[in-house]
Amino acid sequence: CGIIGCAGHEGRTLDTLVHGLSKLEYRGYDSAGVALSGSDVQVEKRAGELDALRDALAESETDLAGSVGIGHTRWSTHGPPTDANAHPHRDCTGEVAVVHNGIIENYQELRDRLTDNGHTFRSDTDTEVVPHLIEERLMAGDDPETAVRSAIERIDGSYAIAVVIADVDRVFAARNDSPLVLGIAEDAHFLASDVPAFREFTDQVVYIDDGEFAVIEADGWHVTDATGSLVDKPVHTVEWDPEETGKSGYDHFMLKEIHEQPRALRQCLRERVNEMDGKVSVDVDFAPERVQFVACGTSYHAALFGAQLLQQSGIPAQAFLASEYATATPPIGDDLVVGVTQSGETADTLSALREARRRGARTLAVTNVVGSTAARECDQALYVRAGPEIGVAATKTFAAQVVALTLLALSTGDGDRDAIGALRKLPGNVQAVLDESTAREVAEEYVDSDAFFFIGRGLSYPVALEGALKFKEITYEHAEGFAAGELKHGPLALVTSETPVFAVVTGDGEQARKTIGNVKEVEARDAPVIAVTDGQSDVERYADHVLRIPAGEPRTAAMLANIQLQLVAYHTAAMLGRSIDKPRNLAKSVTVE
Ligand code: G6P
Repeated sequence: CGIIGCAGHEGRTLDTLVHGLSKLEYRGYDSAGVALSGSDVQVEKRAGELDALRDALAESETDLAGSVGIGHTRWSTHGPPTDANAHPHRDCTGEVAVVHNGIIENYQELRDRLTDNGHTFRSDTDTEVVPHLIEERLMAGDDPETAVRSAIERIDGSYAIAVVIADVDRVFAARNDSPLVLGIAEDAHFLASDVPAFREFTDQVVYIDDGEFAVIEADGWHVTDATGSLVDKPVHTVEWDPEETGKSGYDHFMLKEIHEQPRALRQCLRERVNEMDGKVSVDVDFAPERVQFVACGTSYHAALFGAQLLQQSGIPAQAFLASEYATATPPIGDDLVVGVTQSGETADTLSALREARRRGARTLAVTNVVGSTAARECDQALYVRAGPEIGVAATKTFAAQVVALTLLALSTGDGDRDAIGALRKLPGNVQAVLDESTAREVAEEYVDSDAFFFIGRGLSYPVALEGALKFKEITYEHAEGFAAGELKHGPLALVTSETPVFAVVTGDGEQARKTIGNVKEVEARDAPVIAVTDGQSDVERYADHVLRIPAGEPRTAAMLANIQLQLVAYHTAAMLGRSIDKPRNLAKSVTVE
């Protein structure tokens, strides 16, 4: 979910909130709502995407007025996406409104007690207990800030919460385990789950930490700790431009972000590689005995890639799905545990990193978001510098993660000029793939197929998994990725003339030869084969289509192949008319376990 609060922008506070929500929609879009506070608190909220809220606001007979307000865009965890379950939630008097991102674990017990005391609930959400708790404290005579604080003290779980109260020209907020950042402008102050929500108005931000409490008003702000003492918070300057969060003429953010990859990779490499001596400096103290990666989704595929590279450099390394890490309980000796997470906020990954730290590991976050929870909680952070990514399906952040992990692996060696040379050429080679790709024709040919399979070996194995994940996320078609050698151990039973197989085959060595063997196995079952290849082997003889990547780049070939698979997924989804930037049921940043 995404939350926003604004104090200031008199006369246009509502527009500022709705604009902020449009920048947070990638965090969830089951429903959206706003509350404005003046002499009373007015709320408008709707199930569905933000446009449903915009329509409701346009049709509403009473204008929502007030110069402090809060807003929310929801990804359901408790209760289906209905108008009633949409945030903000109010108390019985209607004078308190609350938005919340996270999960309140003791909500049932609180709700039962509040119900016994005469409170009436209107939704199925865990959040609704918060306004009622605040109401209870206000009735008991607390001032607004104390009432909010003591309500928050009673809840367990993860939250970023923002509150407005009638006749109070401040927004109150608190954080525990869910992101919250404060923005400082001349004519307003903001609170939000992420910087893009208010980046258009300011580049000055304060990252709120767990257990802290923030208050904003039109001309001031302060942050206090759990005991109520003022905290001297550093103000950071955000380095990216607001335009970076617009579509720049592309039909979808995803397509824009696919095309931004050359730039993202240049940024990732900037000042980190020295072509003269082949050395890498990533500003990370990295000399581990062993490495354990923890990650989810696309980031897990980057972690699989990173683990292979480290193993090739002689460092034992293993990638774990973050959600399985606590039960896998791998022994931790002198291990470094690396969390790969573009957002730095994924609950599963954060909890795996915390578990690792609890058991004595040193930790490193590989992330795209400066100041994210992972970056702040880990001993060290390596930023992938892809720039803001809005499309739910990760593209440029994956490319940048893979390059950042390659740099990490190279930083353990004595210098490798060939590897650095290949990385320096990578942005240009990605551009060449983007300029010359025939992925759209391939998508057209196979769009009506029954299912789509992706195979690869070695570094092309995580790329096959990622190709399938991207494909299923945005096309809603059945897609699976396999290690090429595993096909014959089961999945081959699924292969028919209606199941195109995308085979990533690079170079002309032993791996390519074996994957070509697997290609022949599917070809013999009449499956169409699309080879993603640098043309070094004779795989084309067995392929119905070829998606070409530049030749002579063995070190980066798998990364280049991934670009072709992103494009196939994108064009297929576009032909099917899918909601590409916001695929159904998915959210970009999942802050629940
Ligand atoms: C969500 C997104 C995926 C993403 C995963 C991990 O499920 O939909 O695209 O790969 O979270 O996100 P992270 O921010 O940790 O990389």
